Amino acid sequence: MANKHILIVPGDGIGQEVTAVGKKVLNKIAAKYSHTFTYDDALIGHIAIEATGNPLPDESLEKMRNSDAVLFGAVGHPKYDNDPSAKVRPEQGLLKMRKELGLYANIRPIKLFDELLGASSIKPEILKGADILFFRELTGDIYFGEKGRKNNGDTAFDVAEYSRYEVERIARKAFDAAKTRRKKLCSVDKANVLETSRLWRDVVQKVALEYPDVAVEYQFVDSTAMLLIKDPTRFDVVVTANLFGDILTDEASQIAGSMGMLASASIGDGTGVYEPIHGSAHDITGKGVANPLASILSAALLLDISFGMKEESETVINAVDKVLKAGYRTRDIADSTTPADKILGTERMGEEVLKFI
Ligand SMILES: NC(=O)c1ccc[n+]([C@@H]2O[C@H](COP(=O)([O-])OP(=O)(O)OC[C@H]3O[C@@H](n4cnc5c(N)ncnc54)[C@H](O)[C@@H]3O)[C@@H](O)[C@H]2O)c1
Repeated sequence: MANKHILIVPGDGIGQEVTAVGKKVLNKIAAKYSHTFTYDDALIGHIAIEATGNPLPDESLEKMRNSDAVLFGAVGHPKYDNDPSAKVRPEQGLLKMRKELGLYANIRPIKLFDELLGASSIKPEILKGADILFFRELTGDIYFGEKGRKNNGDTAFDVAEYSRYEVERIARKAFDAAKTRRKKLCSVDKANVLETSRLWRDVVQKVALEYPDVAVEYQFVDSTAMLLIKDPTRFDVVVTANLFGDILTDEASQIAGSMGMLASASIGDGTGVYEPIHGSAHDITGKGVANPLASILSAALLLDISFGMKEESETVINAVDKVLKAGYRTRDIADSTTPADKILGTERMGEEVLKFI
């Protein structure tokens, strides 16, 4: 029986719809296991800009620091996507949150539920058994370096930077995880071209000496992009820089059938943030069709990583598995063989998961 304070930060678009379902799942777990979870909520993204002019108001940041974990939705709005000149943008809130909370490791489990073998665009015989744990570095790289324009605005630059310390701490997290899994680690870089990648590889090679039982391989990001599709089962733990991780994990989402299935944890030394990997999906916002399973699986990661509640976390994952085995699908993971009465909207899908919990 534990007392925990959880901050719900839905953000924009379908973030609102899926996070509401994730919260219901946390509530159900609290009731089943006699925990006391208290909640508060906070603004971030477009919705925060509209209300306060700031994509991450100080009040939200303060609430994040004072909670035991954050269940996060997504940020983004088409208004900004189509206006590169906008000075205040929703993603600034996301980047500031990561930086201020020191969330340097983004952990993304990519595992295909057997029932969804047919939902992926990759052949089932290639996919079967794929189980990858991505570690994406989150507070360095080209996202946070100096950026600007020169030559009267006709030339633009973004500087990629990494320090030894930044690479070392994410590498250690990835090696620690590999030790508890199949003891394989793939470090992804572009060391043939980039100086930051050469430092990355040098540091990972040194950290590897402390983990003699983990088999390490080094791959370039371009060949990794190819291997993820050709032979996904060859990977166990993958560790990579911020930009490469951003792109590769979206690619790998196809292994899991849909963006709507993938959860992630962003952790550092303080409050952890748990969120689906998908964005605010304005093409389906307000239609009640968004897949809430990524948010539900994010809640499962929250229980496991921030609260150390392994059994509770497994209960949530098993409930998702059972819902899929019972044939229920949201539109994004349905195929031509799914009966119409098994295709559920966001809330109904959440209700089925609650029943199995
Ligand atoms: N972490 C974040 O907050 C985050 C991440 C990525 C994109 N974004 C933002 O989100 C906005 C939309 O970006 P995008 O379209 O490139 O990415 P997206 O992830 O929002 O959507 C990509 C596609 O996947 C579908 N999709 C995503 N999540 C789904 C779900 N749960 N259920 C069913 N279908 C789902 C969408 O309908 C869309 O067709 C942009 O403003 C972008 O900046 C935010």
